[in-house]
Amino acid sequence: MTTATLNTNAGRLNRTLADLGRIGETPQGMMRLAYSPYDIQGREYVMGLMRQAGLELRIDSAGNIIARKPGSDPGLPAIALGSHTDTVPNGGKYDGALGVLGAVEVAQTLAENAHTLRHPLELIVFTNEEGTRFHRWLLGSRAMAGLLEPEDYDAVDDEGVGIAQRLSDIGGDLSRIDQARRYPGELAAYFELHIEQGPTLHQSGTPLGAVTGITGRFVFKVEVQGMANHAGTTPMPNRHDALAAASHLVLATQRLATVDEICRVATVGNMQVTPNAVNVVPGEVALGVEFRDVDTNSLSAAEATLRRSAAEIADANRVSISISQVEAARSVPMPARMQNLVAEAADQAGLEYHSLPSGAGHDAQSIASITEAGMVFVPSVDGISHSPNEFTLPADCANGAQALLNMLLMADSRL
Ligand code: GLV
Ligand code: MN
Ligand code: MN
Repeated sequence: MTTATLNTNAGRLNRTLADLGRIGETPQGMMRLAYSPYDIQGREYVMGLMRQAGLELRIDSAGNIIARKPGSDPGLPAIALGSHTDTVPNGGKYDGALGVLGAVEVAQTLAENAHTLRHPLELIVFTNEEGTRFHRWLLGSRAMAGLLEPEDYDAVDDEGVGIAQRLSDIGGDLSRIDQARRYPGELAAYFELHIEQGPTLHQSGTPLGAVTGITGRFVFKVEVQGMANHAGTTPMPNRHDALAAASHLVLATQRLATVDEICRVATVGNMQVTPNAVNVVPGEVALGVEFRDVDTNSLSAAEATLRRSAAEIADANRVSISISQVEAARSVPMPARMQNLVAEAADQAGLEYHSLPSGAGHDAQSIASITEAGMVFVPSVDGISHSPNEFTLPADCANGAQALLNMLLMADSRL
């Protein structure tokens, strides 16, 4: 059978996207936060679809859903398709969901055409990709790739609940989490379909993207220690105002990417002010800072500049500032032959493609350390993501699923 004879069902894919998009939908956007009741409901919905596609399900000790279909050659390692179904707070309906439901659509298409692959097929739903929970991202895929860090094991979330409880809520088991690990040779390849989450494809009117690599990301927790005092009686020169200092840091962070152009993007995305009362000079502030760039040297250079600026800001504002790194993800290039598969899949579907790097993080960057990983992107309207306004046209979602199927069939015949 040639690879062009199987066609995914655009209507069915977009129906499942709409169905999953209702689970955890609120007026402010999607709230399918990892391990929440909505997340659990979403996972159950997807597991139902996987069973309908004739797949055998298990949940590994890291809480990842793994659905498997045997291949005709029992000696071959599986080809895996995956992504995530958790969302950021007030998130969108396509980030992660498209990759999972695109993979389900591929499995359904194989089943209804009674097409058996040579390789076993695995569909994987990785848990806590977003890292909203515990502020530790890519948790399921890092567990699978053996990339957990000591801090992951005793992570506690903002509700005071530890990772052991959260994992057991979804069928995982922290005490056996090492058993979720997969080793090089166990997977023949991993493919992930995802929305671009940036503007490149939408602006150029290109339906598909071949991902060249995934950006690196450094994250820091910055703590500014000043002194709380009465806002009415404390003269300005006597203050140790942690929030005023933090504000300078926010702007210094922005300048790293704008004026100085040391790294591609630099963001302060959260801030906690203590005691956070209008009549108190702020005594303490904690900020989350992140830099992203495909060049790890740029991330290190940005860190050095941030530390220098922080020392000056601390002096000028009579506060102390400590900076600790909580994430150091290097950029992950995608192998040329995986990029070529996307190009060929696009050709087979009669669609244009562009090669582009990913500015967002993905489970593929973890799995790339145990097998060759390839990613295909579809356009995000106006480049909006991590927002309730995230949108990808139904036709683009369908193109992505077809490209994923084409990639799978080519890989199955070649690897
Ligand atoms: C993951 O969604 C990221 O923040 O890149
Ligand atoms: Mn995602
Ligand atoms: Mn995301």
